[in-house]
Amino acid sequence: MSPNARLRVYYVHYGTMPALALLPLLLLEGGASQLSCYEDSGDAVDWFYLYKLPHNQSDIDGLKYLLMSGGDDGWVDGNGLVNETTGALGRTVGHLYENGDYGYILYNDQPPEPMAKTLGGVSASSSSGGHTKGVVLFDKSQGFWLVHSTPHFPPPKSEGQFSYPSSGVVNGQNFICVTYALDKFQTIGEQLKINQPHVYDCHVPESLSSYVPSLVHLCKKNRRDRRNATLIHTSPTAANRSVALTTLAGTDFISFAKGPSFSNDLYHSWVAPTLLSNLLVQFWHRSTGILPSDCSNKWKVLNVQLVSPGQRCTFSTMDDHSKWAVSAAAGGSSGGWVCVGDINRNQAEERRGGGTVCRQDPVVWKAYRMAALECESCEGEIGNCGSDKSPAT
Ligand SMILES: *[C@@H]1O[C@H](CO)[C@@H](O)[C@H](O)[C@H]1NC(C)=O
Ligand SMILES: *[C@@H]1O[C@H](CO)[C@@H](O)[C@H](O)[C@H]1NC(C)=O
Ligand SMILES: *[C@@H]1O[C@H](CO)[C@@H](O)[C@H](O)[C@H]1NC(C)=O
Ligand SMILES: *[C@@H]1O[C@H](CO)[C@@H](O)[C@H](O)[C@H]1NC(C)=O
Repeated sequence: MSPNARLRVYYVHYGTMPALALLPLLLLEGGASQLSCYEDSGDAVDWFYLYKLPHNQSDIDGLKYLLMSGGDDGWVDGNGLVNETTGALGRTVGHLYENGDYGYILYNDQPPEPMAKTLGGVSASSSSGGHTKGVVLFDKSQGFWLVHSTPHFPPPKSEGQFSYPSSGVVNGQNFICVTYALDKFQTIGEQLKINQPHVYDCHVPESLSSYVPSLVHLCKKNRRDRRNATLIHTSPTAANRSVALTTLAGTDFISFAKGPSFSNDLYHSWVAPTLLSNLLVQFWHRSTGILPSDCSNKWKVLNVQLVSPGQRCTFSTMDDHSKWAVSAAAGGSSGGWVCVGDINRNQAEERRGGGTVCRQDPVVWKAYRMAALECESCEGEIGNCGSDKSPAT
């Protein structure tokens, strides 16, 4: 999208030229709403990446974000704050609270506070089941899958409106939203079943259930679990599976999903050798049993230590709850890889369900690769993350 278009939206928000600029937005929003990822301007997009920056000095630091979708040539400053209904996150997730014949699954190992109590006495931060957070929302034609890292987000549908929790303010957080046709949601449900997520709110209308038996199962299982907490681990599923997921507009993603029996580091044992790429991994370091950088296989995995997305600000990975991985090198014409997902590199999460969503794209790669300022070397020293000009192999 052109810089002018962003400027126009800016004016809408601040009311400088309301009559003229509001028109296109009203036209867009007037018709039947379309379930899709949306960007700040209100345009439906095939995908976006959103980087919520950590809190710094002032109050509104902590709600600022960077956004990237098709047509951008890297990170773009969010138009407002991440908690606003007029931003990409609010516009996208906001559709959940509309009346409509929608199917939805909300899952989070740290569900919103009032919901935590209903999960059979499981504490707000559950240490069993999948370490995974996301939103699936779809109707009879299409929808989106949002994978994110924010505790206690989003509010259940019964809350009636979008909001962003205080638990998501202090640290950096990542979101990847992808728009899919209805026929992809069965596959998404199969991936989620492997992850064994904590579903805290869900509904699949009768009219859609035959298209998405996997999501129907996840939703039913959720009801059973609430009645009977001893049933949390039911039918055995594969230890792990990766599948291609092509978006509504034809962009290829790969979803990696693992269950508890995988019992290994997602990135080093599986993602890096599958993508044939050395990976730099950003994850939350404030936990026990952190896995060191690992160069024992052909494809190396280095822990990122210092982050600077879009060079807007620089922060320690201690202040960044995001979980993403980027190819160390640019790759060929299709670009290096970027993965955004659920899993930290620590011992406990080797035995937790969760996954990551990856794609190969030169622009997205560069945006994430440039964000990795310092890494832990194979020898355990902190330094730069290697030359991004080195060949992919
Ligand atoms: C977003 O957060 C800011 C800072 O806490 C607050 O002033 C504002 O009212 C919030 N906006 C919404 C829509 O909740
Ligand atoms: C709960 O699960 C246990 C063990 O599977 C079973 O024996 C019990 O009957 C279940 N209770 C209910 C109310 O479903
Ligand atoms: C599961 O992960 C292993 C690596 O640990 C990989 O070799 C295997 O292909 C994966 N299985 C599937 C079905 O993707
Ligand atoms: C916090 O503020 C300092 C000083 O203004 C700046 O150098 C740093 O990049 C900021 N960090 C974040 C995360 O905003």
